Amino acid sequence: MAASTDTTAGKTGFRAWLNKRLPVDEFVDSQLIGYFAPKNFNLWYFFGSLALLVFVIQILSGIFLTMHYKPSEAMAFDSVEYIMREVEWGWLIRYLHSTGASFFFIVVYLHMFRALMYGSYRAPRELLWILGMLLYLALMAEAFMGYVLPWGNMSYWGAQVIVNLFGTIPVIGPGIVEWIRGDYGIADSTLNRFFALHVIAVPFAIAFLILMHLVALRQTGSNNPDGIEIKAKTGADGKPLDGIPFHPYYTVKDIVGVGVFLLFFCGVIFFVPTFGGLFLEKPNFEPANALSTPEHIAPVWYFTAFYAMLRAVPDQQMGALLMLLAIVVLFFLPWLDRSPVKSIRYKGWISKLALALFVVAFVALSYLGLQPADGLYVILARIFTAVYFAFFILMPWYTSIETCKPAPERVSYHA
Ligand code: HEM
Repeated sequence: MAASTDTTAGKTGFRAWLNKRLPVDEFVDSQLIGYFAPKNFNLWYFFGSLALLVFVIQILSGIFLTMHYKPSEAMAFDSVEYIMREVEWGWLIRYLHSTGASFFFIVVYLHMFRALMYGSYRAPRELLWILGMLLYLALMAEAFMGYVLPWGNMSYWGAQVIVNLFGTIPVIGPGIVEWIRGDYGIADSTLNRFFALHVIAVPFAIAFLILMHLVALRQTGSNNPDGIEIKAKTGADGKPLDGIPFHPYYTVKDIVGVGVFLLFFCGVIFFVPTFGGLFLEKPNFEPANALSTPEHIAPVWYFTAFYAMLRAVPDQQMGALLMLLAIVVLFFLPWLDRSPVKSIRYKGWISKLALALFVVAFVALSYLGLQPADGLYVILARIFTAVYFAFFILMPWYTSIETCKPAPERVSYHA
């Protein structure tokens, strides 16, 4: 046997036994130690591994919730109360899961913002970005269906509003709404299918997309805060001069991120689990009631920016279309940015201003989506919706006319 294929050379005992049957060490050598990541990663590069951590937390806490939860109209709300009051550590399991949902979006939004800042969506990482966007869509579907499961009053009315949006599709809309619900209203059959999709189908899709996302990342290599390709400058050994082995350098660094993240995460779970009605809304502590509409129907905070856009337009069909476009436009980002440089560090002032305004618009819309849809709130929602879309529509123009600083040859790194 050729030496290069002998994966057990120099190994003894269980390690040799295992590696003869499963290429564990070969995987670690080629994918983690042999994978060179840029040496100038900053704080913003923690959020990918943190998203992975939250995904694991959601799966584990979800498994234990499923052991006690009953997906039926008659028992769902009570079974969640039972988990909170009677099941040992049930309150912790539930708060891990409900807080995990919000933290998933916090982490993913910061992760996406990093990509916007450093141009990580640009060639050759377009597919990595698209896989990320598909993950974002899957996460939204997962969170929406999960929110219906406790069968609180906001679960019920939220589902009513969102499912009815499909009714705005011309011709086939009303049929689709009935098909999604499995009944003429949000009912037991709706709850049952949302449960099946929430615990099996969508988590599988998310796990598969995460795998593809990471394989695509491995293929192109990570971008970095300077937005330059480290593969372009290699040493005599063929390794990138500005790269360091992912393991142990970034595996250890990521553990620090995990520690800090857990401090915040546990802080919310133990001290402010409802987060003032943002993470768990007040009307959801009452059982679903088809005869009592909550005063303001609003989704959880991570959807409110899009909800504000929906309500900013008087015509519901146009509002729904706008909401859809607000997400679809993100897929096209790799082809809208014409700048000669990737990172915001070297782009001109217009790009910097545009990104800042985009963030302001997104945060403002998120706030407005939680407010009643009248008076000044609607006017502001219209203005910020225009700013949101202007960021994308004007991008091909402002990224090609502005003066940029030249990107450096090598990454900037100060130990
Ligand atoms: C379940 C959700 C997700 C997980 C677990 C995940 C995981 C990761 C990991 C581990 C990395 C490498 C470490 C890092 O660069 O931070 C990464 C990179 C990346 N992700 Fe994600 N991701 C998720 C969602 C998304 C979304 C929603 C987008 C954008 C739409 C996205 C876009 C990217 C991009 C562009 C990179 C490369 C960044 C760079 O090299 O500068 N990801 N992701």
